Amino acid sequence: MSEWVIERLGHLGDGIAAGPVFAQRCLPGERITGRLEGDRIEDVRILEPSPHRVSPPCRHFKSCGGCAVQHADDAFVAEWKLGIVRTALEAHGLETEYRPVHSSPARSRRRAVFSGRRTKRDALIGFHGRASDVVIDVPGCVLVEPALLAARPALAEMILLGGSRKGELSFTVTLSAEGPDIAVSGGKPLDLDLRMALAGLVERHGLSRLSWGDEVVGLRAAPRVDFDGIAVTPPPGAFLQATRDGETALLKAITEAVGSARQAVDLFAGCGTFTLPLARHAELHAVEGAKELTDALIAGWRNASGLKHVSAETRDLFRRPLLPDELRKFEAAIIDPPRAGALAQTEQLAASGIDRVAAVSCNPVTFARDAGLLVAAGFRLDWVQVVDQFRWSTHVELAASFSRDHIGG
Ligand SMILES: C[S@@+](CC[C@H](N)C(=O)[O-])C[C@H]1O[C@@H](n2cnc3c(N)ncnc32)[C@H](O)[C@@H]1O
Repeated sequence: MSEWVIERLGHLGDGIAAGPVFAQRCLPGERITGRLEGDRIEDVRILEPSPHRVSPPCRHFKSCGGCAVQHADDAFVAEWKLGIVRTALEAHGLETEYRPVHSSPARSRRRAVFSGRRTKRDALIGFHGRASDVVIDVPGCVLVEPALLAARPALAEMILLGGSRKGELSFTVTLSAEGPDIAVSGGKPLDLDLRMALAGLVERHGLSRLSWGDEVVGLRAAPRVDFDGIAVTPPPGAFLQATRDGETALLKAITEAVGSARQAVDLFAGCGTFTLPLARHAELHAVEGAKELTDALIAGWRNASGLKHVSAETRDLFRRPLLPDELRKFEAAIIDPPRAGALAQTEQLAASGIDRVAAVSCNPVTFARDAGLLVAAGFRLDWVQVVDQFRWSTHVELAASFSRDHIGG
């Protein structure tokens, strides 16, 4: 059997040795032996473990594909994620201050997407296995809040009622004060019997709301999330930050980056995660592509007290970014795009008179590309903070502050 030394961790969490050849669940510095199959080392045995190796806290880690790096200690994972961001920024010649990584604790995901399948006699509910479409049951998952796992019996019933043996169901489960809010896709078409059975299940399991495809089939109590104490009822399946802890850390970073601006624009605003708390101190204009989200944001603002004026606009910011003229009245912009980043909108921010940008990104590569545009237009990248809401996974999320001397406009 050959031996290898792992040199680094790839961005999917695999150990990489000279070749390159890849070994699952290995860490840099480890000396391993195994059998080479193509470019993968199988049947790995670790001859010399890394000092960062720990026993995985979750009993499902071996089979479940939800987590990639539970075999490494927290300090290693934080440094690895920071390194991914640093490498992406350095590729664009960018330097900055890196703040200490903020990691959400175990059992703190308040929102998760479970998969479900009907088996011959029963229902299977869980996460996909690593690089596979097999559904793994995860009753002992240490990633999500226990109340999310407590929804599994309700999900299993839904599979038996409305799942077919051919397809897979997908359940987006979000915790709210009123009970789990569940959005299901991939189920059988609704008929009267299914509708009645699902509505009964909402009551019996204390769900707040159940949506089947595009339709709400049960509403026991409108689910509310609170953004720093401001209540919003998000539409079914809406984007929310993955953990409350991560949301708080991101909001703190964004609040600092926005500073004393009295007029700000929140681009890719969702249903108001940042807009509404920031409206305690500034007037906000929220721009977002999905109308259900801007509607929820405005309803939240109307029901809240003590906030300054908030307006909202439904707009596709990839095709129709806000132009310098429209940005003229704002002193700061918050920008939190999807993984693709915000090339078109960032070009317009660069050309505008805005001199403060507070950014959140879930993709270091597109973030670095967009950051390069701002820096070329005279912005400093003041600092970057990795906020790890996706503990033990390969996802990387960050907040950043950009500023430049006032250029008017
Ligand atoms: C990463 S989420 C951030 C949402 C919000 N800032 C939050 O923290 O809850 C990105 C948001 O961008 C919106 N979005 C995606 N593509 C868009 C587009 N082309 N134009 C405008 N908004 C878009 C999504 O609906 C989603 O709400």
